[in-house]
Amino acid sequence: MSSSYDLVVIGTGPGGYVCAIRAAQLGLKTAVVEKRATHGGTCLNVGCIPSKALLHASEAFEEANHHFADLGIQVGTPKLDLAKMQAFKQGGVDGNTKGVEFLLKKNKIDAYHGTGRIAGAGRVEVVSKDGGNHLLEAKNIVIATGSDVARLPGVEIDEKVIVSSTGALELPKVPKKLLVIGAGVIGLELGSVWRRLGAEVIVVEYLDRVLPGMDGEVGKQFQKILTKQGIAFKLSSKVTGVEVGKSGATVTVEPAAGGEAETLKADVVLVAIGRVPYTQGLGLETVGVQLDNRGRVQTDSHYATNVTGIYAIGDVIAGPMLAHKAEDEGVALAEILAGQSGHVNYGVIPNVVYTFPEVASVGRTEEELKKDATAYNVGKFPFTANGRAKANGTTDGFVKILADAQTDKVLGVHIVGADAGNLIAEVAVAMEFSASAEDIARTCHAHPTLTEAVKEAALAVDKRAIHI
Ligand code: FAD
Ligand code: NAI
Repeated sequence: MSSSYDLVVIGTGPGGYVCAIRAAQLGLKTAVVEKRATHGGTCLNVGCIPSKALLHASEAFEEANHHFADLGIQVGTPKLDLAKMQAFKQGGVDGNTKGVEFLLKKNKIDAYHGTGRIAGAGRVEVVSKDGGNHLLEAKNIVIATGSDVARLPGVEIDEKVIVSSTGALELPKVPKKLLVIGAGVIGLELGSVWRRLGAEVIVVEYLDRVLPGMDGEVGKQFQKILTKQGIAFKLSSKVTGVEVGKSGATVTVEPAAGGEAETLKADVVLVAIGRVPYTQGLGLETVGVQLDNRGRVQTDSHYATNVTGIYAIGDVIAGPMLAHKAEDEGVALAEILAGQSGHVNYGVIPNVVYTFPEVASVGRTEEELKKDATAYNVGKFPFTANGRAKANGTTDGFVKILADAQTDKVLGVHIVGADAGNLIAEVAVAMEFSASAEDIARTCHAHPTLTEAVKEAALAVDKRAIHI
């Protein structure tokens, strides 16, 4: 392999590998450096893909356990083979990581396995596990090193009793009692997996609501739905300590505002209080790349750091820590480096929680619009009034569209419901084209589909929904 490149990307998560492929498509001589044995980063190895595989399998188990009989299907009591389910999950991971390896080869991208360190302007040193060493020359360097689990002071993650998402995806048996710290997206997705498989799940959350950052009404409804499913919540509470003993963990919980502490027992404790940017070992101090006050690599609107020729994308910079955001930044940056005008519209990045029902949102929340004193109209439509949802027996949830009061432009859409993650795509496209609620309302939607609830919510913005 040559050691002189137009572009060297450090990290092959969704940000890094996509950036490398787009750069190679545009004719840049490109190499990637990855310290994991497989490509695909957090997302493919220990994030999006394994979690979705377990969500899919555990939902099928739940269906067979509790809902098949309602559909007239008698299968008896289904038995869980957790080892097989974990193998199913791993099959999905392997298929995806091998796919990335294939794509890198297909695009003639050189892949170096080892830890990358920026040794100076235009130089990346790669140290492989066996101690081997490569020095790469690069006209441009992209930092795409992603993020790591945020730790709770004094609570040591052993990935057995006290686990991060990585350990929670690998549990060898279903815990009797799982205590989740943090009612964010990881807590609720992985809490759902283990509840469906038979664990008693309690979620302790510092704030007074679940899914902070998402629309408030969505959070409230969604919490009710999860409570109905059997997940218990302890809101406005903080975990101040976890003691691991012979028979699991004893967790000390206090009211967030202060007050009397109580202790809760659990077999497994999942720490899911957020993620932090990962820059360890990159040598950023040596080359003088600036970080912001939250440890993220600071970039301008073209992903350039303060050091000429060094760029950064994905979880390691500001913005939502989402795979599709990282990918789009990868494409935009590759295009910028090739002299084109790459761009990401941060106002239209969908956010999906893959529970059942799913939660999906794009654009502004009602709380944000109120804070900015933006005048808006709301159109809401419940799935109880949607023909297909009724036929399928999946009537939990609603679609809510927020549109500008003067122009009718769609400002935000929030959905709780089966398949919400797919439903949100049409409004993301509509918003990219600056659509009004009227535009969505006048678009013919196939019957009977769940998408009709989106159309009806758009009609409801003008108070003329048909089916409610
Ligand atoms: P990463 O995917 O973290 O990749 C960074 C890569 O860089 C890693 O492979 C790492 O090994 C490598 N690296 C780091 N330092 C070095 C170095 N010095 N040298 C060489 N290599 C290095 N997002 C979604 O959009 N949808 C989801 O459903 C979703 N589910 C998730 C579920 C879980 C449990 C978790 C933890 C995250 C989930 N995410 C999801 C978030 C998503 O995984 C991240 O937003 C995404 O992976 C970020 O991509 P990235 O390329 O910036 O970094
Ligand atoms: P999160 O930021 O979504 O949620 C963390 C939660 O923990 C918040 O509700 C916060 O208030 C709470 N919290 C913080 N400190 C606490 C404490 N001491 N005690 C109790 N609660 C506390 O973070 P999470 O769930 O860890 O996920 C990390 C990131 O991974 C997400 O922000 C998201 O970007 C990404 N992700 C995306 C997924 C998706 O798109 N479906 C799935 C999983 C992860």
